[in-house]
Amino acid sequence: MKFLLSNFGQKSVLPSPVNAMTSAFTHTFREGIDINLGVGYVNNTTIPQDTLLACFEQVLQQPHIYRNPLNYGAAAGSPNLQEAIQQYYIANNSLQTADFKNKSIIIGANGATSILDAIADVLQPGIVITADPMYYIYTETLERKGFTILAIPEDEHGIQVDILREKLKGVSPQEISFFYIVTINNPSTTQTSNARKQEIVQLATELSAQRGSNIPVVFDKAYEDLLYDTSLEIPQSPLLYDKVGLAIEVGTLSKIIAPALRIGYAICKTSELSTVLIQRMSDIGFSAPLINQEIAACFLHNYIQEHRARVLEVYRHKAQCVRHAIETHLAPYIERIDGGKASFYYYLTTKNTDTHTQSDFYKFLSRTTGIDEIDKNTENNARLIYVPGEFCVHQQGFMVQQGQRQLRISFGFEENETLERAIILMREAFEYSTMKKRK
Ligand SMILES: Cc1ncc(COP(=O)(O)O)c(C=O)c1O
Repeated sequence: MKFLLSNFGQKSVLPSPVNAMTSAFTHTFREGIDINLGVGYVNNTTIPQDTLLACFEQVLQQPHIYRNPLNYGAAAGSPNLQEAIQQYYIANNSLQTADFKNKSIIIGANGATSILDAIADVLQPGIVITADPMYYIYTETLERKGFTILAIPEDEHGIQVDILREKLKGVSPQEISFFYIVTINNPSTTQTSNARKQEIVQLATELSAQRGSNIPVVFDKAYEDLLYDTSLEIPQSPLLYDKVGLAIEVGTLSKIIAPALRIGYAICKTSELSTVLIQRMSDIGFSAPLINQEIAACFLHNYIQEHRARVLEVYRHKAQCVRHAIETHLAPYIERIDGGKASFYYYLTTKNTDTHTQSDFYKFLSRTTGIDEIDKNTENNARLIYVPGEFCVHQQGFMVQQGQRQLRISFGFEENETLERAIILMREAFEYSTMKKRK
């Protein structure tokens, strides 16, 4: 007999394509042989284990500052952490004390993901405007929750507002639910320029006025803390351009401190929407574990600047090593390399090799060619997982053809020698695909 599932439940029965792909792989993953460049894990050496331990002790030893840290917390989040996040913004010149007037800093029950999820829960389903390629994890969740994705291609400054304006001619503002802008995009790593952020807020302001109610603009700045190429523009908070109160800036400490702390936050104008989001945090789990919030507050107050400099150095170096390996081993096959300036992804466009899950390239790297010599379970036949572009581009969008020959590789987790081994494996996969095409 079947269970009576909600609409959302029914759509969640089958795992998402990415989950299906990674779980097939992780079941038989051979440590030290197979390589996973698909996951967005941070590098373990960037996680400040000893300092976090010191913060844990300080939190427990200072009950006058950190009250009841092992008890339940309040849904709105720890005041210590809210204050530490505010100081972090001010120290990085993104906002000043006065900018926080009438703003709420909401702490997610479980990372930025829980805030994004809550936003989808409390807004009327409709069209979500985002970039193409898109952050496939969230957009997939949104689709299951009944939203429709309008994915707009990027130029070097972010989503192309002129194309979006053109597209919107056929759309009533009533149909729009919200904007979702990943400011250092995942997967493409495109940085949304400050001018483009301003244009997007301006457009949302116009559309809101037309329909007589606010259209929120969610700016997900997950990777802004990992911007290590000093030629890039220093990002400004979009809250600076937002006169009406449409912008919600979502951040996370996952990438810069430790994902397992599960600390994400949103900053927005105090409004009905911020109240509703806080209620949703309470529904999901009362608050993020208070001890983690206090450890994070202590860390931000005392150690973040020095730590961040070190993290940026680690990723800058890794990005250089991987780019060098790509240029050395893959040059004949690659049309375009995006990445290596911020975050820990490269998004590659091949010249004419397909990368989707039915392609020879993919089959070679997942050892599912049907040719015993390639697929045999030996140490020499390492398997490699990456995120095919087909999962990142919108299937009814502008980039669908290009996505067939794109791929995202993450260089966060694996060490540099392994990354070079991975690139060499990719070259073998390119050679194999070329050979198959000739036949
Ligand atoms: C664009 C983007 N937003 C949000 C998240 C999730 O952040 P958190 O770990 O705080 O849930 C990720 C994680 O990879 C991400 O890539």
